[in-house]
Amino acid sequence: MLRYLTAGESHGRELTAIIEGMPAGLAVASGDIDRELARRQSGYGRGARMKIETDRAEITSGVRHGKTLGSPIALVVKNRDWENWTEIMSPEAAPAAADRAVTRPRPGHADLTGGLKYGHRGLRNVLERSSARETTMRVAAGSIARRLLDEFGIGVYSWVTEIGGVKGEIAGAPGALFRSAEGSQVRCPDSAASKAMMERIDHAKAAGDSLGGAFEVVLTGVPPGLGSFVHWDRKLDARLAFALMSIQAIKGAEVGMGFAVASAPGSEVHDEIFYSRKGRSAKFWPRRPGFSRKTNNAGGIEGGMSNGEPIVLRAAMKPIPTLYKPLRSVDIDTKKPFKASVERSDTCAVPAAAVIAEAVVAFEVAGAFIEKFGGDSISEIERNYMGYLDSVTSY
Ligand SMILES: Cc1cc2nc3c(=O)[nH]c(=O)nc-3n(C[C@H](O)[C@H](O)[C@H](O)COP(=O)(O)O)c2cc1C
Repeated sequence: MLRYLTAGESHGRELTAIIEGMPAGLAVASGDIDRELARRQSGYGRGARMKIETDRAEITSGVRHGKTLGSPIALVVKNRDWENWTEIMSPEAAPAAADRAVTRPRPGHADLTGGLKYGHRGLRNVLERSSARETTMRVAAGSIARRLLDEFGIGVYSWVTEIGGVKGEIAGAPGALFRSAEGSQVRCPDSAASKAMMERIDHAKAAGDSLGGAFEVVLTGVPPGLGSFVHWDRKLDARLAFALMSIQAIKGAEVGMGFAVASAPGSEVHDEIFYSRKGRSAKFWPRRPGFSRKTNNAGGIEGGMSNGEPIVLRAAMKPIPTLYKPLRSVDIDTKKPFKASVERSDTCAVPAAAVIAEAVVAFEVAGAFIEKFGGDSISEIERNYMGYLDSVTSY
């Protein structure tokens, strides 16, 4: 089983991830991780924090001379801002004066309910961990999962489709859309929409407001049969929805046509099945002869399993809860209403959320891949995978 755990507070000394279940022999370099961390930190509409931090990952165990050992992989990212927070975030007992007490919960954030749940009287004890800073380590762990997928010809792409009501016109091959998205400050492949999205963000920022949006994640080269129709908790669509919904501020997830299936007849929803003998013999799926579809409304998943078509996912992000334009709330000590103004926050983080989504989805698919073709080493997985592709091809 592939799994990971993250630890770390937003202004603590450092962030940590431990990954268990990664096979031996996978080529990994800290540069692979740093590249993904930089993508997570970019995007028009981010706050000042992103300028303070330039994340760099240190691999502290599980990798030797550029290859995984099969043992747990530990990753560490230092919080550069920590120097300004050593006293406030110290693990040692400290005088009360050292605590910059937060008693004013933000609507839409974890502050109030986290305080109630754990009995914290200072809401910093909640917000330090509920912050999306935690996703740094999910992107770090996901970048290693991506390396595994890459080894087996599986590509992971994302692009932003909507910000604050501005929608992009998006059509084309995943690789080309991804390249255009990478060239856009809001990660939207439609350049006219990108411009309108940035204007919408400027407008929201000037008004002290914040924006949400939506994005797509697409995986290509996925073989049929990842996931399960047998066990509810191994269904691939369920696992991917869980992964997406686990990202801070994600409030909706769709597979393929998603919610649009509710209003279309079956004849316009289900993807008809075809067979072609004319495949090219190549190392990996899908360049072999076999079953295929001309449409992909199912988003590459039927019966909780990948069906060999690209996996297409979509997610909706709510607007950032910390607003410069104050919303009404109540101080947890005085019980008096207040209207807070705040110092530092993102106006819009949809482009970053799409990068995080790539990471969490890559990790889930890598887990399903290892479950199906499992082995202790990359070469063992490759043997199993090639054997499976042979049997699928001759089916
Ligand atoms: C990449 C990213 C950046 C975020 N930046 C902020 C931020 O600067 N300020 C803020 O209040 N919320 C931010 N959020 C959203 C909060 O983390 C999130 O709304 C909060 O943890 C409550 O969880 P929930 O929205 O899932 O209910 C961000 C989320 C993501 C994914």
